Amino acid sequence: MAQSYEEMDAIAMLKADHRVVEELFEKFEQTNGKATKQRLAEQICLELKVHTAIEEEVFYPACRGKIEDDLVNEAYVEHDSAKLLINEIEAGGPEEDFYDAKVKVLSEMIEHHVEEEEKRSEGMFSQARAAGLDMDLLADQMRARKATAMEEFQAGKPAETRTLHGDDVESALTDQPLGDGAGAR
Ligand SMILES: [Fe+2]
Ligand SMILES: [Fe+2]
Repeated sequence: MAQSYEEMDAIAMLKADHRVVEELFEKFEQTNGKATKQRLAEQICLELKVHTAIEEEVFYPACRGKIEDDLVNEAYVEHDSAKLLINEIEAGGPEEDFYDAKVKVLSEMIEHHVEEEEKRSEGMFSQARAAGLDMDLLADQMRARKATAMEEFQAGKPAETRTLHGDDVESALTDQPLGDGAGAR
């Protein structure tokens, strides 16, 4: 039987989120109706905003100092590049010339980013597992944050970048995990 979301550890949870978004991108690609396209694109943007928030606020800070620093830094920048498109897509609509192209490019960016996270042995998740992070604790923290982030973004909060020109870059460099004990045991 498939594991329920409540029972998943941090990595299983994040991977499950990835599969949800991949499926939505696939549906978008197969759809012609403008209204359905817009509904799917909005769902994709919401899922990605929540997912990037829980990674950036819980998972990535727990990884900081425990896995290759370059990998963590690139992950933040990849999120931020995606967020620029996410905000564009949310502000636009399927009647726009570049709407489909934006969703397509977003899907390609996310595909690359997910690969960097899930890649066997040298990927972020593998390194985090090898570093001994407490994946059950992190999962609990992410589930809790996911619920509140979902509410915030459903209420219309845009995605916020952390590493681009004009951002408060410190937040990506020094953010700490919620609670304590998210480090290696
Ligand atoms: Fe992810
Ligand atoms: Fe990510």
